[in-house]
Amino acid sequence: MTPARVTVVEVGPRDGLQNEAAIVPTAAKVRFIEMLAAAGLPVVESTSFVHPAAVPQLADADQVLPAIARRPGVRYPVLVPNMRGMERAIAAGADAVAVFTAASEAFSQANIRMTIAESLEAFSPVLAAARAAGMWTRGYVSTAFGCPYQGEVDPAAVADVAVALDELGCDQISVGDTIGVAEPDDVGRVLSPLLERVPVERLALHLHDTRGRAIDNAEAGLRLGITTFDASASGLGGCPFAPGAPGNLATETLVSWLHGLGIETGVDEPALFEASAYIRSQLS
Ligand code: COA
Ligand code: ZN
Repeated sequence: MTPARVTVVEVGPRDGLQNEAAIVPTAAKVRFIEMLAAAGLPVVESTSFVHPAAVPQLADADQVLPAIARRPGVRYPVLVPNMRGMERAIAAGADAVAVFTAASEAFSQANIRMTIAESLEAFSPVLAAARAAGMWTRGYVSTAFGCPYQGEVDPAAVADVAVALDELGCDQISVGDTIGVAEPDDVGRVLSPLLERVPVERLALHLHDTRGRAIDNAEAGLRLGITTFDASASGLGGCPFAPGAPGNLATETLVSWLHGLGIETGVDEPALFEASAYIRSQLS
């Protein structure tokens, strides 16, 4: 049942840095991304082409992406909310893009000022343009396990949104515990209806460690056949909805746990620690 290999998607430069109060200099972001790729991470989500006022921490996306010395075989997806973002991503040389919506209407409105249906409509031309440009694409379903505004989220809503992203042509769909409220039982409860409709190879699990349950939840995901997990170097990111609480599952924690189970990731742990130490030095 245990897979031989798991793909770790590093989201620190995007999901991590967007939630840190400090604004890191462009050159330091580029170096951080290059260190992560050199450490063996196969996918490094690098920045976000959202409205610069919405996420001032990543307002330099147009400069960061073209400055990265890319390693062959590594993907550098960037977040794109609409066609304006897509135009910027193309101009900056993106090779992969990620669109993002939510399983909760309240979160979608607060985050991107669109209903879920409107967001899917906005993504349709984005994903068509990505396909035409030969890019790899990812879709995020945020708040799949709970919403900071509306509380409970119906697993059927998660499945519907994930299926819609799948039908729009996303190569991968990342199901997110945005506020870190999932318990291991919830992983099966939320993912099981979805697994009947989207092949497990196309799914990723995006866990937050707000209540210290991320690894238990990853284990539940692994048992369901999930082999792609998102994580953030050094657990970068905090949780904007739970001040003081940890944010994204730390890549170090995920990788060392996987290696302990005898599962390959391709990640060199000392090199990963160096990347984390470097970005921490830029944040203090
Ligand atoms: N990049 C830069 N500028 C953008 C943009 C983008 N991706 N999308 C829209 N704009 C500009 C428009 O050109 C327009 O400019 P103008 O007033 O000079 O003509 C202005 O922003 C308003 O455009 P509109 O389409 O009405 O956007 P909005 O104000 O409804 O904002 C989003 C919608 C999605 C762009 C914005 O809410 C956003 O960027 N959210 C991201 C939130 C986020 O990143 N959350 C964390 C990720 S989980
Ligand atoms: Zn996250």
